[in-house]
Amino acid sequence: MLSAYVFDAYGTLFNVHAAIARHRAAAGPDADRFSEIWRTKQLEYSWTLTLAGHYIDFWTLTERALDFAFARVPSVDRALRGKLLEAYLTLDAFADARTALAALKTRGVRLAILSNGSPRMLAAAVEAGGFGGLLDTVLSVDSVRRYKPRPEVYALVTDALAVGPSGVAFVSSNRWDVMGAVSFGFKAYWVNRSRTPDEYTDLAPLREIPDLAALPGVDR
Ligand code: LAC
Repeated sequence: MLSAYVFDAYGTLFNVHAAIARHRAAAGPDADRFSEIWRTKQLEYSWTLTLAGHYIDFWTLTERALDFAFARVPSVDRALRGKLLEAYLTLDAFADARTALAALKTRGVRLAILSNGSPRMLAAAVEAGGFGGLLDTVLSVDSVRRYKPRPEVYALVTDALAVGPSGVAFVSSNRWDVMGAVSFGFKAYWVNRSRTPDEYTDLAPLREIPDLAALPGVDR
C-alpha cells in the first residue's frame, strides 16, 4: 500500500447527478439528458478556459453550465435553478465513499481530496458527506488558478504532502483525470463505476476498479 491516497471529488466521492435526482419529478422526462449536459459543459469550460490562459472559479462555471443546460433543454423549468444549485453544494456522497475513507484511515495512510471545486464548494460537500475528520487536507485548483489536467494542479499534492509523485495513489472516476495524474507520475486507480470504454491507453492507470470498495486496503 502507498502512504498517501488522493481522491478526486466530483464523480468519484460525490455523485454529480444527485442534484437532478432530488428534483427528478419536477425536472420531467429530460432530466438525465439535462444533467449530462450540465456536467459536460461544466468540464468543457474548465478545459477551454485553461487552454486559453483564463481562470473562472468552478462555482461560476457550474452556474454557467446550468444556464446552458436550461437553454438547451427548454422542457426543464428554470424555476428549478436555485434548488439545483443548492443541491449541488451538498451532493450525495457515493455509498462506498465514507466506508473506503474510514478503512484507509485505520491503516494510517494519509488522505486528501484534489478537486476542481472551489474551496467553498468542497467545504460544503465534505461537511455534507461527513468526511471532515477523515481527510488530512482538501486541495482546490483555486490556489493555482488553472484546472485539471494541468500538471501544476497535481503538484499541489506533492507540495502539500511533501511526497514524490510515485508515492501517491490517485483515485478518480474521470478517465481524463486519471490520464493527467498518470502523466504527472502518480499511481492511479480508475474507478469505472459506469463501465465506460477505456481511453488514453498510453497513460494507463495502475488498475481499473468497479468501485471504491475494490481499493487495496479497503476490506470488502
Ligand atoms: C473534480 C472534477 C474532475 O472534482 O470533477 O476535480
